[in-house]
Amino acid sequence: MSEIVMELKAINKFFGSSQVIHNVNFKVQKGDFVTLLGPSGCGKTTILRMIAGFYEPDSGEIHLAGRQIEHVPPYARNTAMVFQEYALFPHMSVFENVAYGLRVRNLDEKTVKQKVGDALSLMQLSGMEDRYPNQMSGGQQQRVAVARALVMEPDVLLLDEPLSNLDAKLRESVRVELRTIQQQMGLTTIYVTHDQQEALSMSDSIIVMKKGYLHQQGKPHEIYFEPATPFVADFIGTTNLIQVTGNNALWANYEGQVLEMDAPCPEGTYTASIRPESIRLNEVAKAPHGENVLPATITHSMFLGEKMRYFLKDASGKEWLADIFDPGRKIYEGDVFMLFMPNRTHVIVGDAEGAESKG
Ligand SMILES: Nc1ncnc2c1ncn2[C@@H]1O[C@H](COP(=O)(O)OP(=O)(O)OP(=O)(O)O)[C@@H](O)[C@H]1O
Ligand SMILES: [Mg+2]
Repeated sequence: MSEIVMELKAINKFFGSSQVIHNVNFKVQKGDFVTLLGPSGCGKTTILRMIAGFYEPDSGEIHLAGRQIEHVPPYARNTAMVFQEYALFPHMSVFENVAYGLRVRNLDEKTVKQKVGDALSLMQLSGMEDRYPNQMSGGQQQRVAVARALVMEPDVLLLDEPLSNLDAKLRESVRVELRTIQQQMGLTTIYVTHDQQEALSMSDSIIVMKKGYLHQQGKPHEIYFEPATPFVADFIGTTNLIQVTGNNALWANYEGQVLEMDAPCPEGTYTASIRPESIRLNEVAKAPHGENVLPATITHSMFLGEKMRYFLKDASGKEWLADIFDPGRKIYEGDVFMLFMPNRTHVIVGDAEGAESKG
């Protein structure tokens, strides 16, 4: 049974005269790992700070664990936040940094030791209790900051790009650990990142934002395969967007070609999204499984190990990307045909500013 533990309702936030959050609404299920994803400056940190209580919204409501909290001071909310710049106490040891919040809660020393020890061990920091932040690497400090938040067992854990200072390998392993710990503890988590792979691989639910507007909330596969707006389609991974004209329930025109879609097409002009990995190439105009066929010319190609990436141009001059996985030594050149499957050609109902005009 799913249970909503947190909800933001019609949140607006201004800094001076500039509005940075526009009518944001979302719900979070208990125990879920929810990622806020979007380009720099879209309002991710501002939303976390409003949930933690460091900023107040100008209008709207925040509900957490059965309470309405948008005007409750930070210390009276059961939230814990890891800041983008991790903000450890420089004059305190690792142990004392992690113990700080527990001491504020007046827990007895034995419980404090136990909980701090567990959190440090989870973050692979055992043995570093007596070090000071300036005696640790950036990545280690980030893990201390995560331990300091985890130990509080908050109603919601707020993590603002907590892995940004780790190298690629460590980042991947801490990512897996963090997700495992979060699931074991059933800890509701809001995680900020602008790394799409991280969002897709870790989340129960992803919220995509742009310029203070929420474009879409959905499961990773929904965000990837059924993007609500062209921005979402383009921001998550790579895609080919084309303007097509629907002329009946199941077909659309593109440059005089009839494309088949698996979803009903709206009348008039709208956008369709076709992922590079969903395109096949052929030297002859042959569609063995009923795919759509479009002629194009390869302008250049890149060998990327597990795949070849092709840059193509169709008759109208529009540029396309196609990824061919496990290419072996096969290299396509010159004039080819692109094949795409109806069930991988996605209709985007919202137009480019669709989400924004709702604000
Ligand atoms: N205290 C502030 N005063 C004025 N403007 C602010 C303040 N904090 C943030 N902003 C502005 O609000 C917008 C959203 O900022 P925010 O920090 O929430 O973005 P972000 O999505 O976290 O970006 P990043 O990925 O770079 O961390 C930006 O345009 C930013 O300049
Ligand atoms: Mg930020």
